[in-house]
This record gives sequence, C-alpha cells and structure tokens, in this order.
Amino acid sequence: MSECLIRTRDLNKSFMSGKSELSVLSEINLDIQQHEMLAIIGASGVGKSTLLHILGVLDHPTSGHIYYKHEDLSRWDAARLAVFRNKTLGFVFQFHHLLPEFTALENVMLPMLIQKTPKPAAQVRARGLLAEVDLEQRATHRPGELSGGEQQRVAIARALANNPQLLLADEPTGNLDSKTGDEVFGLLQELNQQKKMTLIYVTHNETLAHRADRIIRLVDGKIVEG
Ligand SMILES: Nc1ncnc2c1ncn2[C@@H]1O[C@H](COP(=O)(O)OP(=O)(O)OP(=O)(O)O)[C@@H](O)[C@H]1O
Ligand SMILES: [Mg+2]
Repeated sequence: MSECLIRTRDLNKSFMSGKSELSVLSEINLDIQQHEMLAIIGASGVGKSTLLHILGVLDHPTSGHIYYKHEDLSRWDAARLAVFRNKTLGFVFQFHHLLPEFTALENVMLPMLIQKTPKPAAQVRARGLLAEVDLEQRATHRPGELSGGEQQRVAIARALANNPQLLLADEPTGNLDSKTGDEVFGLLQELNQQKKMTLIYVTHNETLAHRADRIIRLVDGKIVEG
C-alpha cells in the first residue's frame, strides 16, 4: 500500500453569515494515498469547493486537522504554507482566476517566477505546458481574449507549472464542450498515471467521476464513500 499523502481528522467548517452559523463540513475524515485519483461529487452547495480549498490550504477548517505526510499543517505559519502551496500543490479553480492583465504565457510563468526560477527557463517551460494543453497559438493572448475553455486550459497549465505532487481541480472540465473536456480530462489522468501526480477533482459528471480510483460523495456535510 502506498503512503498516505493527505489525511484529515475531524474536520469541520462553518461560515458565519450575519449572526447565524452555517455548518458546511462536519467530521470529515479522509485518507488520500500517494498517486491516488480521487473524485469528489455531491449536489451544488454541499461544500465540495470548500473541502477542496481546505485540502489545498487556501482556507482553514473551523476545527480539526489536516496532515500532509504526517505533518500537521495547522502548526505551520502563513509563510511556510505559501511556499508549500507554490511548490507542492497545483490548483485548478472552478472559476479559473487567471490574472487579467497578464498574457497566457505570463500566467503560466508566474508560479515559477515566485519560486525564483530564472525567467528564460520559466518561459521555455510555460511554452511547453501551453503546448500540452494545445494553446501554443494563444500564448500572447490575455484571458479576456480567450474562450472559457481556453482560459480553463491555461489555468491547468499554470497549475502544473511547478510540477506539483498534488493537483486539486474544481470542476476542471465544467465549462468545456464534451470533446475538449475529454481531452483536458485525459491530460489530467495521464499526469496521474504517468507522472504519479496525486489528483483530487470535483465533478458533476458521473462518467468522469467513475474514471477515478475512488469516489467520495458529500451529503449533508459528511462523506459517503462509493
Ligand atoms: N465565504 C462564505 N461565506 C458564507 N457562506 C459560504 C462561503 N463560501 C461558501 N459558502 C456556503 O457554503 C456552502 C458550500 O459552498 P461550496 O462552494 O463549497 O459548494 P459546492 O459544493 O462547491 O457547490 P457547487 O457545486 O455549486 O460549486 C454553500 O451553501 C455556500 O453558500
Ligand atoms: Mg463548487
């Protein structure tokens, strides 16, 4: 059995809205193995993005713990978490979050520049990643000059910039037509199978969910396996 990469224990998340507390996730206990491909499914508003953001340390749980290879991430300070996110994690957002004033190429280069990769090397790698998502011809376009599907593919290229161990993808093919969606999904699956990248993705598509090693369903803030 491979090593556990991410483990959550008794994870709870609630949001305050006005004076009332909205409980979204309750007592989530999840063990994700290295190289695993895990799909998260569940109804709209159930907390899938919230869970993914917490696993990607973009948001904090209200209580409970997340361990990365046995280290308790709640003990790390913000600076250490930022380096961890940049070096180890790749995140494809539900709404891609590209920087509008930068070109596709620059958006993909950015995580590498943050890690102090020399600019020429970052540029070469970013071009290669854009080629992998079939966007070499759009390198100089800004997000506003790209279609929704193209923006999503740039976002995937950006998530791969630093060769992450763990890729978190929130409905990565949600805005794509079925052919492009299949291609993009095929790319993610290849990264999981050939480069052994651990992949956790949220989807509303049952067919795509069934391509995972394991499916977890969120129901009323809790996990139901299978
Ligand atoms: N910052 C916030 N403040 C208050 N409530 C929030 C906040 N973020 C999310 N929520 C609420 O938490 C619940 C879960 O949201 P989340 O985005 O995780 O759902 P989801 O499962 O990803 O839904 P979808 O499939 O529509 O993307 C929703 O009811 C939402 O309204
Ligand atoms: Mg969501």
